[in-house]
Amino acid sequence: MDTQQVLLHMNHGMGDNSYAHNSIIQKKVMREAKAIVEESIMRLYAIIPIHCFKVADLGCSSGPNALQLVSNVIDIVDCSSSNLNLKPPVFQFFLNDLFGNDFNSIFKSLPQFSEIIEEKKGQKCGACFINATPGTFYKRLFPNNFLHFVHSSFSLHWLSQAPKELGNEENVHLTSTTPPAMHKAYLEQFRKDFKLFLKLRSQELVPKGGMVLTLIGRDKTQKTHDIRTAWSLIGTTLNDMVLENLIEAIKLESFDLPLYDPTIEEAKEVIEDEGSFTLQRLESVILDWSTNIKEAVEDENNNNLDLNTKAEFTTKFVRAALEPLLKAQFGEKIMDELFVRYKNKIVQLIMEVKLLEFSTLIISLIKKV
Ligand SMILES: C[S@@+](CC[C@H](N)C(=O)[O-])C[C@H]1O[C@@H](n2cnc3c(N)ncnc32)[C@H](O)[C@@H]1O
Repeated sequence: MDTQQVLLHMNHGMGDNSYAHNSIIQKKVMREAKAIVEESIMRLYAIIPIHCFKVADLGCSSGPNALQLVSNVIDIVDCSSSNLNLKPPVFQFFLNDLFGNDFNSIFKSLPQFSEIIEEKKGQKCGACFINATPGTFYKRLFPNNFLHFVHSSFSLHWLSQAPKELGNEENVHLTSTTPPAMHKAYLEQFRKDFKLFLKLRSQELVPKGGMVLTLIGRDKTQKTHDIRTAWSLIGTTLNDMVLENLIEAIKLESFDLPLYDPTIEEAKEVIEDEGSFTLQRLESVILDWSTNIKEAVEDENNNNLDLNTKAEFTTKFVRAALEPLLKAQFGEKIMDELFVRYKNKIVQLIMEVKLLEFSTLIISLIKKV
């Protein structure tokens, strides 16, 4: 098994640097895609008679977002059942993530979650069974023709592994100085992984089953700084620490982030080449980072939005997702120092560029019959 798939997980628990406390941006992405999820489920529900509605959320992580899809699907189906005058189905949800995911914290939140659903829906809603399905979504997770709907939010930009190409020693991702062979190797890895993902899901979905995916994307025409800047500043920070002998150079040379942000065209080409799905929608939503931070911080009743707050927010967003991998490669001892330095770089970046944006791809697919 690939070590990255064993080591990768978001920061556990409920602490200051946990994913649970630093995933507001991801929650906003789910909100952006909700209408498309609704469209996909309503279509499905109108054409396939469903007694037990089987739904998988791939890369669910932990924290408040982990059960968000369950709640959204129950709402959507409840509404469709009333409109179509149908008896609501029984629900079976499968929450998937890698083996290191903090499934325990999801399990602990289930009794309270069930109470809220029961209070909201009463007897109207069909019974709801929630299961965990640990494992990589780059392998089979379910039997043939089993699922009605697959969802994956903000997870598919994680590759099964970083490309093994040489020549990117001082960086941890793609930058303007990265050799073209490395850019090509990342794109090839994405093509291979995404194609495999589609093939596996097409085996697991029932004919006409639906799938909605969101992932970090890249806008070819984008002139402002995108998420790659945030990733590459991790490399610059680590490189500074190598120069000060705080990190061994060899550790940096052998490390690249297993992340890729495809353009709309790159994603479309793989979907068409794989061939099992009809493309319903493929959209790119540009998220203006500063507005999102403002909203997110205000969500938490903090109106004092200065440069430091913005940099702190961005640093914690990156730390919650990347720390476990970085810790495994560079050791726990340097983590606080790394992220103090990283935050200073983000302060500089915000002062220089003012506008940080990133693009999210939203893809809606139907399994061909
Ligand atoms: C940024 S989190 C998104 C979590 C959640 N869907 C949300 O929107 O908040 C990405 C998740 O994808 C998971 N992931 C990455 N690669 C995966 C794989 N190959 N199989 C299953 N899960 C994976 C990570 O462990 C992580 O929990």
